[in-house]
Amino acid sequence: DIQGFIFDLDGVLTDTAEFHYLAWQRLADQEGIPFNRQANEALRGISRRASLMLIVGDRPYSEAQLEEMMERKNGYYVDLIQNMTSRDLSLGAIELLNELRQAGIKIAIGSASKNARTVVERLGIADKIDAIADGYSVQKPKPAPDLFLYAANLLKLKPEQCVVVEDATAGVEAALAAGMWTVGLGPAERVGAAHVVLPNLAGVKWTDLKAKLNSITT
Ligand code: BG6
Ligand code: MG
Repeated sequence: DIQGFIFDLDGVLTDTAEFHYLAWQRLADQEGIPFNRQANEALRGISRRASLMLIVGDRPYSEAQLEEMMERKNGYYVDLIQNMTSRDLSLGAIELLNELRQAGIKIAIGSASKNARTVVERLGIADKIDAIADGYSVQKPKPAPDLFLYAANLLKLKPEQCVVVEDATAGVEAALAAGMWTVGLGPAERVGAAHVVLPNLAGVKWTDLKAKLNSITT
């Protein structure tokens, strides 16, 4: 029986994916590295370092330079999230969180971001979340299952009792590798491997989702 939900944060509960993009774009422009929205799609859900490596490609930066660039990008990102409020919650997010809580379902965040706690606070949903697994929690980033297993452990639940909600390919892979029920948000080309694919959280009801997941035999 499903007893827990693990929500990815960026691109699921809020559209910080746009802020990550703007911050990387600013850095790339300063470095004279070609980058655009389309190139940014490949960065969805992946760690800060892996993102930077994809942007710089084989350009010969030293480790110290890479670290400075990660810090610079994070500075821009932190500036962008300062003005976030509950208005920045994705459509349908608060309704789903409330329905889950009323149904006695435990809720965790499973985000690769080191800024996840700040974003949760700014969104005003800290009191609806039972546990946070973030960019500090595990060594191996998604698509490794580690972060979601860590989150399930915080909720004291087994993987098969958990549903992961993800918007990124790497996140869907991580959730499946963890042996969890997986809901993908976005186009099938991106999240088609998930058990259930939805465009976003708008109008999503736990009662409907439960019926869909129960109809899947694995
Ligand atoms: C993920 C985002 O949640 O966190 C990625 O989808 C981001 O875009 C990653 O790179 C790491 O975030 P941060 O805030 O620690 O740089
Ligand atoms: Mg995401």
